[in-house]
Amino acid sequence: MTVNNKEQLKTPYFMINEDKLIQNLEKAKQLKELSGVKLVLALKCFSTWGVFDIIKPYLDGTTSSGPFEVKLGYETFGGETHAYSVGYSEDDVKEVADICDKLIFNSQTQLAAHRHLVEGKASMGLRLNPGVSYAGQDLANPARQFSRLGVQADHIDPTVFDSIDGVMFHMNCENKDADAFIELLDAISEQFGEHLNKLDWVSLGGGVFFTWPDYALEKLAAALKAFSEKHDVQLYLEPGEAIITKTTDLVVTVVDVVENGMKTAIVDSATEAHRLDTLIYNEPASIAEASDKGEHEYVIGSCSCLAGDQFCVTQFDEPLKIGQRLHILDSAGYTMVKLNWFNGLKMPSIYCERSTGEIQKLNEFGYDDFKRSLSQWSVK
Ligand SMILES: Cc1ncc(COP(=O)(O)O)c(C=O)c1O
Repeated sequence: MTVNNKEQLKTPYFMINEDKLIQNLEKAKQLKELSGVKLVLALKCFSTWGVFDIIKPYLDGTTSSGPFEVKLGYETFGGETHAYSVGYSEDDVKEVADICDKLIFNSQTQLAAHRHLVEGKASMGLRLNPGVSYAGQDLANPARQFSRLGVQADHIDPTVFDSIDGVMFHMNCENKDADAFIELLDAISEQFGEHLNKLDWVSLGGGVFFTWPDYALEKLAAALKAFSEKHDVQLYLEPGEAIITKTTDLVVTVVDVVENGMKTAIVDSATEAHRLDTLIYNEPASIAEASDKGEHEYVIGSCSCLAGDQFCVTQFDEPLKIGQRLHILDSAGYTMVKLNWFNGLKMPSIYCERSTGEIQKLNEFGYDDFKRSLSQWSVK
């Protein structure tokens, strides 16, 4: 379905901008060309498969964190399908082994328990935990104390490398500093180098923000190339946020303005339902219409029942009016994949603004979706 006038669209909705997406993808292409790295999209971050036709020509495939993501990547993206999960059941492994190219286990016990189901079907790997990381928040730090994510160096049975093809490390979170990443790379090479030399491939996970303005992309590319040559492995990165950053607005309408010491504009969306990471990581959203020097300060409050549910506190040049639309910036990564039906709020529709200016609808949700998500059958 095609729409010509954005004003006709009912809020809340997400608008993915193709031009902005392509800007990120062009950087991904440059990184690949300079370094030889392969890039697989982390579906945990972004799975809106309606725009995969735009992304496919630039990336090598997908990686996943659970069985349904594997299937989605295989069906809708193609290329290489990597399967990883922190904990696979036997049924999960049976389901994914036939459709993935690489299956990465999180522990040596998982590998030992399930390897017979994968042999002859997919290349096998193990997640290692390098014990070092770059992460702003403990909640998202794979090297946090008592981490369950991957095998620690001192727990590795060295014979395991004779029977796997590759390993995965993931230790970055929104890392915009190429030097900081290279330090981690050096630490990995030093700590695990002799094992890596026996392998065919190494994935360095996600969290490398190579699409950020002024990111030292060429430096990163040179370091990746040197690492893959040194250990004679095919390198992978698993970008999520780097691919989708700054491409998508969540568009909402001010439905009320209330005052209790501060002015709060209540919008027809909620962080708890539609932009969950704002709440989980306590990272305020940015609003396109806001102005640093504006004299009119507002809490941008959600329409959920949770007392502390707000998008941000920000300033505007003019007072906000009921009925006015606001664009909540950078609302794609870890956002659309986490939508939920809390409070029975209307789920945002999803659109893509093509490079031609045409607006295409990718999804729309209604009461029936809400109802079905709760029960399909009632007790008899
Ligand atoms: C194993 C793994 N790979 C890739 C990613 C994607 O990271 P990002 O979206 O920050 O690039 C994550 C994020 O948590 C991850 O855990």
